[in-house]
Amino acid sequence: MGKRKRILTGDRPTGNLHLGHYVGSIKNRVEFQDSYDEYVMIADIQALTDNFDHPEKVRENTLQVLLDNLACGLDPDKVTFFLQSAIPEIAELTVFFANLVTVARLERNPTVKDEIQQRGFVKSLPLGFFMYPVSQAADILIVKGEVVPVGEDQVPHVEQTREIARKFNSIYGRAKLDKPIFSLPEARIGTGARLVGTDGQAKMSKSLGNVIFLKDDPDTVKKRVASMYTDPKRIHPTDPGTVEGNPVFIYHDFFNPDANEVNDLKDRYRQGKVGDVEVKDKLTAAINQFLEPIQARRKEFDDPDRLHEILATGTRKAKKMAEQTMAEVRAALRLYDLTAS
Ligand code: TRP
Repeated sequence: MGKRKRILTGDRPTGNLHLGHYVGSIKNRVEFQDSYDEYVMIADIQALTDNFDHPEKVRENTLQVLLDNLACGLDPDKVTFFLQSAIPEIAELTVFFANLVTVARLERNPTVKDEIQQRGFVKSLPLGFFMYPVSQAADILIVKGEVVPVGEDQVPHVEQTREIARKFNSIYGRAKLDKPIFSLPEARIGTGARLVGTDGQAKMSKSLGNVIFLKDDPDTVKKRVASMYTDPKRIHPTDPGTVEGNPVFIYHDFFNPDANEVNDLKDRYRQGKVGDVEVKDKLTAAINQFLEPIQARRKEFDDPDRLHEILATGTRKAKKMAEQTMAEVRAALRLYDLTAS
């Protein structure tokens, strides 16, 4: 078998992961762990770019996000988990990359634009937040990631990373004979669709309060499903309803493995022959069934010492790679080398 391609992806530790994360990227990660050399970074420094005033939140969620990933089936013997803040080489590389990106280019990044709006940063934009895509390029390239499995909102950052890598290679790469320092990473988008929120808004997001968390117990799931939006034009169970774009049916399509049951519910919904309660009860059952093995693995890994050890082991490995990359980068930049005799 040839050399496995390297994957790098990351999560901001600002809260527990939810079904939207699962659909958008975690599912992909789980599938990729057998065929790729996979790295998952806990992006605590990036989390501080919009939570600099809540460092305790980032701290508390660091092992939680690791636990969420393990619960979803990522195997710590196959996947290297590492902590961004424990690799100062990432910050160092970010500084060099910052020379290669213009302010105008960052302003055009659509994900950054949206997030500036959402976070109320329109009037006072922290520089650290504005340039986090540059830091994200360093996350990816410090371990020479080749494939980046992400949700569609992250694609602009991977595009930006490719531009930075290309520019770095062309300015600092030596004679043509050498292979370029950085290869250009590719985005690999998850299942395709992103999961709408329980309220039908385009995105499931903790700040919008429209989420179902991977760690939610059966009762919580029941409550969250009960409050879900359906067809707003349908008042009575005997009114014919619309299935397309209806959050409960979008979720049925994702999480209910019984296609016959789903088709039967859709038919009856269209004809006005089923009430929301039955549709939602069956969805609750399906989601709880989906979450059951995730809950079981969560119990198995839920031990601070064990989580600490998994993160520390992976970080040691990533740190070695980062040191190697920075040695190459410093040489390429022709910085004066005080350690040479
Ligand atoms: N920006 C990503 C998110 O909000 C998290 C992230 C940080 C990341 N560094 C990364 C994703 C590197 C992919 C690669 O979800």
